[in-house]
Amino acid sequence: MSKSSELVRGNLLSILADNKFHSGETLGKTLGISRASISNHIKVFSSLGLDIYSVTGKGYRLAQPLMLLNLDKIKEHFLSTHPAEIEVLNVIGSTNQYLKDKSIELKNGHTCLAEAQTAGRGRHGRKWVSPYAASLYLSMHWSFAGGYAVLGGLSLAIGVAIVDALNQCGVKGVQLKWPNDIYAQGKKLAGVLIEVEGQMGSGCQAVIGVGLNVTLPKNIEEIGQPWIDLSQLSDPLINRNTLAGTLVNELTKSLTLFESSGLEPFIAKWRALDVYANQGVKLIIGQQTVTGVSRGIDANGAILLETEQGVKAYHGGEISVRPI
Ligand code: ATP
Ligand code: BTN
Repeated sequence: MSKSSELVRGNLLSILADNKFHSGETLGKTLGISRASISNHIKVFSSLGLDIYSVTGKGYRLAQPLMLLNLDKIKEHFLSTHPAEIEVLNVIGSTNQYLKDKSIELKNGHTCLAEAQTAGRGRHGRKWVSPYAASLYLSMHWSFAGGYAVLGGLSLAIGVAIVDALNQCGVKGVQLKWPNDIYAQGKKLAGVLIEVEGQMGSGCQAVIGVGLNVTLPKNIEEIGQPWIDLSQLSDPLINRNTLAGTLVNELTKSLTLFESSGLEPFIAKWRALDVYANQGVKLIIGQQTVTGVSRGIDANGAILLETEQGVKAYHGGEISVRPI
């Protein structure tokens, strides 16, 4: 997107943010562009997943109020001792990819947030649906001197940090699904994608990505499983900037603790939040499926499955858990 288009779109959004109808003509006059250009900018927003009503004779109106990310407002909620930079971006492919592409050495805690992602991703190359201003798309950099060997269970510690942040913002009843999902009312609220680079036997760099649904457009069809957002869990709706700042704090705190003490300080909390505790589940491991009763996690963060052969620990990024 060119700088001038970005500027026009930013101004257009700030006018539409009042949630009232604005005619194409008035918008054009205010922004010094034609009605046709306004219509094109609106089409771009729609393609990014922003829900905009277009009514003949009335003009354009946002389907729901817009709460844009604002660095100053986010900063009010995270600690002044935060060790690194926070970047707030507009539209980007993937916040995880953005941090991975940065060639300069990043400080631990360097974070980026975006309003929308055009190539948001989940585990196994799956798509993360990322409409404009509808969720939090956040990635944080952290280097681990101990390398890959010390990262076991990191996604579980991050899950606990996300639940802590949500609880602090007044959202209750949130649970965790092994190894990387945040659930509420049995539906997916958020996901964690950790991507790691480094040589075996030396330090490694991790990008910790979090996608957390705030107010997704109701007509989304691309998510192939039951989902939920915070608009269904918090009244009044949580402020995205408050949530972002709180999340940055909790992630930084938890990563610092994980680096010094590993998974141990998170285990009891994770077990208490386990969405499938003592329930029948199947583990999908590549082409193979194992069915049993979920018995939580062991000290390394592996999932424990009880079958007729007894309780066995399963670890590794290739496993998916499903209810039966
Ligand atoms: P598992 O992690 O157990 O393998 P999963 O189906 O949740 O299972 P992930 O790769 O973790 O798979 O997450 C990606 C999936 O999440 C997508 O295939 C889609 O079903 C779902 N998804 C995509 N975008 C969203 C979103 N915004 N909110 C909720 N769920 C989403
Ligand atoms: C999953 O459930 O598989 C994980 C989804 C992680 C989505 C987040 S959104 C911010 C960051 N950037 C990405 O491209 N993915 C993660």
